[in-house]
Amino acid sequence: MVKNVNNTEKIFAQRMEKHQDELRWLYMELYGNDAMYAELCEQMHDYYLKRSTELKKRDIKKEKNPDWFKEKEMLGMMLYIDNFAGNLKGVEKKLAYLKECNVNCLHLMPFLDTPKGKSDGGYAVADFRKVRPDLGTMKDLARLTEKCHENGMNVCMDFVMNHTSEEHEWAKRARAGEGEYMSRYFFYDNGDIPARYEETVPQVFPTTAPGNFTWLPEIGHYVLTTFYPYQWDLNYRNPRVFNEMMYNFLFLANQGMDIIRIDAVPYIWKELGTSCRNLKEVHTIVRMMRMIAEIVCPSVILLGEVVMEPEKVVPYFGTVEKPECHMLYNVTTMATTWNSIATRDIRLLKKQMDIVSRLPKQYTFLNYLRCHDDIGWGGLDFDTLKQWGMEEPSHKRYLNDYFTGKVADSISRGELYNDDPVTQDARFCGTTASMCGIEAAGFEGNAEKMQTAIQEDLMLHAYMLTQSGIPMLYSGDELGQVNDYSYKDDAEKASDSRYLHRGAFLWELADKRKDLSTVQGQLFQMLNRLEQIRRQENVFSQEAEVYTYDVHNDSILGILREYKGERFIALFNFSESEQTAWMQEEGIFRNLVNGEIVEVKDPVLKGYEFVWMKYKA
Ligand code: GLC
Repeated sequence: MVKNVNNTEKIFAQRMEKHQDELRWLYMELYGNDAMYAELCEQMHDYYLKRSTELKKRDIKKEKNPDWFKEKEMLGMMLYIDNFAGNLKGVEKKLAYLKECNVNCLHLMPFLDTPKGKSDGGYAVADFRKVRPDLGTMKDLARLTEKCHENGMNVCMDFVMNHTSEEHEWAKRARAGEGEYMSRYFFYDNGDIPARYEETVPQVFPTTAPGNFTWLPEIGHYVLTTFYPYQWDLNYRNPRVFNEMMYNFLFLANQGMDIIRIDAVPYIWKELGTSCRNLKEVHTIVRMMRMIAEIVCPSVILLGEVVMEPEKVVPYFGTVEKPECHMLYNVTTMATTWNSIATRDIRLLKKQMDIVSRLPKQYTFLNYLRCHDDIGWGGLDFDTLKQWGMEEPSHKRYLNDYFTGKVADSISRGELYNDDPVTQDARFCGTTASMCGIEAAGFEGNAEKMQTAIQEDLMLHAYMLTQSGIPMLYSGDELGQVNDYSYKDDAEKASDSRYLHRGAFLWELADKRKDLSTVQGQLFQMLNRLEQIRRQENVFSQEAEVYTYDVHNDSILGILREYKGERFIALFNFSESEQTAWMQEEGIFRNLVNGEIVEVKDPVLKGYEFVWMKYKA
């Protein structure tokens, strides 16, 4: 026993030793407060001691294999607990289904306590230590993560650190006029400073929540609210805020989390006269979080939510010596993929893929076709598009018209999101299946159109699975679930069209997954096949060299992956018409999907067809 205690202490001391100089340096640089730093260290030790023996073992195991999340076997799925299975206990009962989906990384969408009707889909947290009562308890959560671990699954949750709900204890006390709590947010007793902020800070929700400040008449103050008026931005200039939020982070990590998604991370530091995005202090904070996790709970990795242009995303990986996030969303590739669908032109996507493949291999991206949020066009490389004759405003309008089905040849069904009357900018919403035409074809009962839509949907998933990094499915997309319009009847959701693609999971669709005569069966079985291939074939290793492969056809994207002498070529036809891939080489290939050995010479791909093939030496 004594020996164990000593050993436990020794491990902590060693981890602390590794980071303490830098951690202290950064903390002092930001806060210059010795007492608060001492408190932080003491609490880190406490959370370490409170961590379960099982999790401590997991830490040691993952410390020995720090690249565990880069393995090609990783496959994620994101889901809302209530939509999927009612509550946490319900999810536990459905783990077999998730395993059947080959999922080993489960992103549980926000589940902490949040006020009904003022929740922003759970991103307005009222209590970081309490699960929303209808979903269960902290105990249920810890039990679920334990079960997931037993089943070889990692669990991911959101850490919404930029703001709290106005119903959070701190916010309530601030609203009551307690100075100590007001100093944890940004309060102003007149409009001068808010007006100066508004000059340089863009708006996140220009239509659904205009402006960056909210007036609180009961205390005669403005409060900074970058997102919704009920989401109050935290003031990280106050070390009390940083410390307390780190304790919340460690508390949640101790419930068995493997991946913590840092929500809205570019926004966490504010400075008058700037855009209040991506400021250097944000990096100091993320770097400190990384070290705190490596000391207390090294099995936990950080996923940064940076929905920005590529040059702003990459700095969040930090440097080799001073890493920050372990993983980031491949947001520009995602948006550019949809641009290629609407234009049947892969040139920009090819350019984007070249940028990503030239980045250091240790940078890990999370690849996805869509998530719970809208899809925006801000990240598209408009300078390049312009050279090809596509001007920003008209092109954005075309894209939005295409995805909302307003263009004559569009089979997509979606809705606009935050259609800003001033900037004329809008984003859009819809499930993958609805954007690929499954909804329209189903509605019209058009079998031929349905086959095209299924093919488009599968091609896009195959493309996602071809990229290095973690592929992340959205629950329901594996079955081609379409938009859910019922949010319009719910007063609390009606103004936020993101609920269009956050519908309840339809288990009756899952029942058809083995029946190949159904849409669901065709999608589910083919996805399953592709996921198996990705697991088995070494060319999908993160270490593989990845290049785009020019086939002299602007509608076909070619990707080459090479690893230890193996050569894999993938071709994706982004148009609905037949296209020829003018390959520079001929040879004997094995089609990985159907196993056929084929001699390849300028293959012709049907509309939205894709090919995965390996060179046969
Ligand atoms: C993130 C979430 C989004 C939420 C916002 C504010 O961007 O993905 O859903 O509205 O943060 O917390």
